[in-house]
Amino acid sequence: MQGLMIPSLFPTYAPYPLVMVRGEGDIIFDDAGQPWIDLYGGHCVCSTGHSHPKVVEAIHRQSKQLIFYSTAGDLAIRREASDRLVAFSGMDTIFFCNSGAEANENALKLAFQITGRKAFGSFQGGWHGRTFLAMTVTDDRKITEAFESIFPEHYQFPFGDIQSLRVLDFSNLACVIVEPIQSMSGIRTASSEWFAVLRQKCTEAGCLLIFDEIQTGIGRLGQPFASQYFQVRPDFITSAKGLASGIPIGALMMTETAAQHVKPHMLGSTFGGGPIACAALIATLDIIQNEKLMEHVTRMHTYLTNALKNTLIDEVKGIGLLLGLKSNRASELKEYLLSQRILVGGSSDPHVLRLMPPLNVRESSLEILVEHIRTLGGKS
Ligand SMILES: Cc1ncc(COP(=O)(O)O)c(C=O)c1O
Repeated sequence: MQGLMIPSLFPTYAPYPLVMVRGEGDIIFDDAGQPWIDLYGGHCVCSTGHSHPKVVEAIHRQSKQLIFYSTAGDLAIRREASDRLVAFSGMDTIFFCNSGAEANENALKLAFQITGRKAFGSFQGGWHGRTFLAMTVTDDRKITEAFESIFPEHYQFPFGDIQSLRVLDFSNLACVIVEPIQSMSGIRTASSEWFAVLRQKCTEAGCLLIFDEIQTGIGRLGQPFASQYFQVRPDFITSAKGLASGIPIGALMMTETAAQHVKPHMLGSTFGGGPIACAALIATLDIIQNEKLMEHVTRMHTYLTNALKNTLIDEVKGIGLLLGLKSNRASELKEYLLSQRILVGGSSDPHVLRLMPPLNVRESSLEILVEHIRTLGGKS
């Protein structure tokens, strides 16, 4: 239609200033063939790097064999994917869906059904997605404000404060959902002791504990999931993003005790656990394990925290490769890094830039980042 000013692709996020054409490992190539170091990882998604040959090969192989069948068909590859993810996560059973919000929506719905209670608990600064129940527990007024009057009953508690946690009453809550590292709100986390008290309180009150591991999962913290890192076993873990190296997938992982109350008709999804996503998930797990990426993540964390001492970065926040660089020059730094063809992310804290690179990011790429941070520091 003539005269309309709106582009055919509706604008949502402000995109980076390049047209992306190709990716390889931790590098994105633009339409002029120039390389950009990707420390944003497609928003924490490209866990094994861009177009890892083993992921490409797994997708190719599976697409020649069978592109799709819903869960009406029994597929060996789907059973293998769930077996592998159960073994990796330490949970007992998995429901596959397509995204993080969908995994959270299902977890919250099940908590209602299992407990018969009607209220949710969540934490200030937590971000859980844009579907209705996921928004209910999300602390981001710009997306939730229009709906607050019709949200179900919910309560938002302070995050990470052990004294206030001890006195909370969870007895009327269906569940409490927590993002073990609050990414969007500027890489904020809590102590192992806080998570242990949270687990204990949920158990005592008969309310389910949900870990939203959509960013913290699949090796990003140097452990398979944050639940292993903090040594707390929630009733549900939700995950998505990096699970299949960029092929859309979501997972709701449950303990056997919680799953005993779930009837098959309570869960369903046409595309969830499709064969290509399952093939990519298995390949992702193979790469993480065979290439020892979790050990690499921990090494890269140590390298960066040491290398950024006495620079314009006041603090390196976070665990593994879910990192926040805190600086009162954060927005200037982001612009400077972009001008040097390095992609990093912002957060809702204007002083924190986020790094969530591929788990196999090269030390040489991080060295280039450090060099540029030092150069900008010298220009102050
Ligand atoms: C912690 C967390 N939970 C949930 C979501 C929603 O995931 P999706 O965008 O796949 O629906 C996100 C997305 O950024 C997230 O970071």
